[in-house]
Amino acid sequence: MDTIVVLDYGGQYAHLIANRLRRLGVYSEIRPPEAEIGEVKGVILSGGPNSVYDKSSPKIHNKLLEKGIPVLGLCYGHQLIAHELGGKVKPGKTREYGRTEIEVESEGIFKGMGKKQLVWMSHGDSVKELPPGFKVLAKSSDCPVVAMGNPEKKLYGMQFHPEVTHTERGTEMLENFIEICDCKKDWDAGSYTKQLIGDIKKKAGNKKVFMLVSGGVDSTVAFALLNRALGTKNVYGLFIDNGFVRKNEVRMTKERMEKQGFVNFRMIDASSDFLDAEKNVYDPEEKRKIIGEVFIKVQQKELDNIGLNAEEWMLGQGTIYPDTIETGRTKHAEVIKTHHNRVKIIEELIEQGKVIEPLEMLYKDEVRAVGEELGLPKELVWRHPFPGPGLAVRCLCAKEAASMESRKLDEIAARYNLKAKVLPIKSVGVQGDFRTYGHPAVLIGEADWDTLEKASTEITNRIKDINRVVWLMGPKELPDVGVKAGYLTKERLDLLREADYRAMKNLRSEGMYNDVWQMPVVLIPVSIKGGESIVLRPVSSKEAMTASFSKLPVGFVRDVANKILQIEGVDAVFYDITNKPPGTIEWE
Ligand code: XMP
Repeated sequence: MDTIVVLDYGGQYAHLIANRLRRLGVYSEIRPPEAEIGEVKGVILSGGPNSVYDKSSPKIHNKLLEKGIPVLGLCYGHQLIAHELGGKVKPGKTREYGRTEIEVESEGIFKGMGKKQLVWMSHGDSVKELPPGFKVLAKSSDCPVVAMGNPEKKLYGMQFHPEVTHTERGTEMLENFIEICDCKKDWDAGSYTKQLIGDIKKKAGNKKVFMLVSGGVDSTVAFALLNRALGTKNVYGLFIDNGFVRKNEVRMTKERMEKQGFVNFRMIDASSDFLDAEKNVYDPEEKRKIIGEVFIKVQQKELDNIGLNAEEWMLGQGTIYPDTIETGRTKHAEVIKTHHNRVKIIEELIEQGKVIEPLEMLYKDEVRAVGEELGLPKELVWRHPFPGPGLAVRCLCAKEAASMESRKLDEIAARYNLKAKVLPIKSVGVQGDFRTYGHPAVLIGEADWDTLEKASTEITNRIKDINRVVWLMGPKELPDVGVKAGYLTKERLDLLREADYRAMKNLRSEGMYNDVWQMPVVLIPVSIKGGESIVLRPVSSKEAMTASFSKLPVGFVRDVANKILQIEGVDAVFYDITNKPPGTIEWE
């Protein structure tokens, strides 16, 4: 099969590049930089956090650039090619992040594209002088060699990331490279499904698999794959109601599973175990860790009840690739959020080879394609992603107000004819590869989405402790706000469930469900008259590593906000106008 190999230079990029190629129909494998290359159609060097000037940083091996195989270097890979072939790389003292406009030559990797392109940069060093035989294919106001190429030798490099959605025509750039490689597109969901089933059989051997199923896309697809590979008799699924599920979710999941003919599936209500363990817990990471641990305890109890012995059974999980990055499993990424599938006990089981995760290398789009291939119903396969810890990461907890003042914020808002405040709470965000825990700012007044986006970006770029910006939907003004101390209680979760239910119902009935990647509805302990507040967080994304806030029709948003404001105990409704980065999708 025609293959393009991605050499992994660290960070989180290699898998995303491979995912993009596979979705374009090209079989793609990830290998370490020093691996032998063999018979392949092309090679991509991924980005990574290194500098070519560090002695220990990974190099180009095996005379890769002399083999006549097309090579595309991205970010660090671009700098490596330049450095290796006699160009000059300039060390950068600061890193450049974000969307940048560049000017391209419509040839090679940019064939068929207009001069101006919007791309996603994330780098420190940059290429200053071309290696001999290369020409400049793109430049920007800050960077003379944004992209370069030696068409004769089929060697290319670009400073930015075509694989992320923020690069508007990144997919076409990768397609141009595939054409340069003369690579056949014969990879599809069918081939993937076959490969995954083969892998499961190999890994499970003669063991059976026990698995927690949430009713979401990932765990259902993983469960269906396990059933297909090992047979219903050798797989057992358990749905644990942890108290953080959506309104009506338990009933609907049960119906769906029965319809699929999964007779090897059972449900239990363990909500009081979870809520008891979360008593007086406010810190987001602690909340997550407890949920992971209680899951294991409840699961263990259930295993004992039904008498499954650990020597005979493995643990199945629906972990997908992006879940592992934010937990910091890859070499360079630090912990942004501890995924519930990656708490300590599970890590130990993984070490012992007792965990099977059929989807661990896949992105959401691939999981969906495999789900369709397995014949799961479209309405399940295309459900929005829902986090494992459920509404627990959408129910912000606080013990007291975390106040902050910022004159800079008032100045920026005033320039956009808006008023602003810092909210006295904190939420999780991400910048570069790092976790942040900062304040949301709220903008108050009338403005269109583009103006709001500009103001939001300026605020998070310029004010260090603000990692998120929201827009006030109602009431019209925001008098002094306080914090209503609260942790994960049934009452608060019920309030959130009702707001979430109303928002999602409207999204569906207005035909907008498929216009967003996901629309978290978040409860925050921001209080005006004794109640709390709700945030709507609709986002567009392809793989959740980056996301843009959705610009839904304002009339619709106001309508939803009004319906939520009618719920007793809701004082205000906000709309999150932060992209990711700097704000993660979930607030925690
Ligand atoms: P963030 O908040 O990190 O979310 O921007 C990225 C995507 O991951 C989902 N998410 C999770 N999914 N277990 C999951 O299965 C988790 O612990 C978890 N945390 C976040 C989130 O909904 C979004 O789609």
